[in-house]
Amino acid sequence: MSRRVTLKEVAKEAQVSPATVSLVLNNKPSRIAKETQQRIRDVAARLHYVVNENARGLVTNETRLIALIVPDIENMFFASLARHLEDACQEAGYALFLSNSDDRRANESALMTNYLARDIDGMLLIPSLESYRQPRQLQRQIAAAHCPVTLIDRLVTARICDGVGFDNVQGGRLAARRLLEARHRRFACISGQTDDINASNRMQGFVDVLRSHHIDADDILLLNGNYRFTGGYELADCVLDFGATGLFCCNDLMAMGVMQRLAEHDLHVPQALSIVGYDNIMRRFGMTSQLTTVEQDVHELAVRSWECLYRHIRLHDTGRDCATATSVTLLEPRIVEGATVADAPAKVFA
Ligand code: RIB
Repeated sequence: MSRRVTLKEVAKEAQVSPATVSLVLNNKPSRIAKETQQRIRDVAARLHYVVNENARGLVTNETRLIALIVPDIENMFFASLARHLEDACQEAGYALFLSNSDDRRANESALMTNYLARDIDGMLLIPSLESYRQPRQLQRQIAAAHCPVTLIDRLVTARICDGVGFDNVQGGRLAARRLLEARHRRFACISGQTDDINASNRMQGFVDVLRSHHIDADDILLLNGNYRFTGGYELADCVLDFGATGLFCCNDLMAMGVMQRLAEHDLHVPQALSIVGYDNIMRRFGMTSQLTTVEQDVHELAVRSWECLYRHIRLHDTGRDCATATSVTLLEPRIVEGATVADAPAKVFA
């Protein structure tokens, strides 16, 4: 390991002033001759010069660092979202720091405190599931932040900052309509945790459409999962015992858990049970033909979330951010056809 080369050393070696080096290496417009610019770049490369972002931040009052906190990095939905967010940040010249709260409010709070102590320019946050139970703590922490914060996906706080997510009620409606199209009449729904507004909205949209199609409440089994593989696996037997022929899982991980349990019973999907999932995480593996699912386009979510935060960063830099009203953007989910929904057995609708 060697010591950091300074801007002054590059200037001395290139026989120009430090200010000239700074203009060239920060690609600022100038009248510096092309030959001189190239000489400066060659010297910087030869000396392995790296811009001292901390020193630069003291001058420009920006660090160009963004923090992203996700609740479950092992869930492909969040991992893929983080990947697209990093692309968006890098394209704008920002570096993205990623951390995982493991759906714990204590972890989330500590991570937020740690990042906010490091003079980041902005924060992107998918709240932990525990924050649904303690929204005031999160609201207070966001209100005290020195930089803009944008919520993504789980818009738990009441308008304390901007949020970008999907219309989860509409997502539940799409799942119900797909199963009704296949003439199912007995249903189950495995949602996320009860206090997760996304999961309860998906379940609400699902039930509303079924009831509007005169499906009796006794023909709808509602179960609370945990958004993880185990949630579907452990509840699959309840679904089978209930005699449902159409199942809506509020995320793909739980749908995969149900499919695993059915396989252990030597039962096949969709013959034994039609399943609609949520998130389309299979797409990340190029396996779109597998699970019929409600897709939340993570690329669109990432781009819109970054645009929202970046707008506030620019306003913040001009001291005008606090005056802006907060806004919530809801994007449209869509059904993606796979191979897990088939017509209900003839006896069901005979
Ligand atoms: O898979 C995890 C779920 O939690 C996703 O559907 C996402 O919307 C998040 O809320």
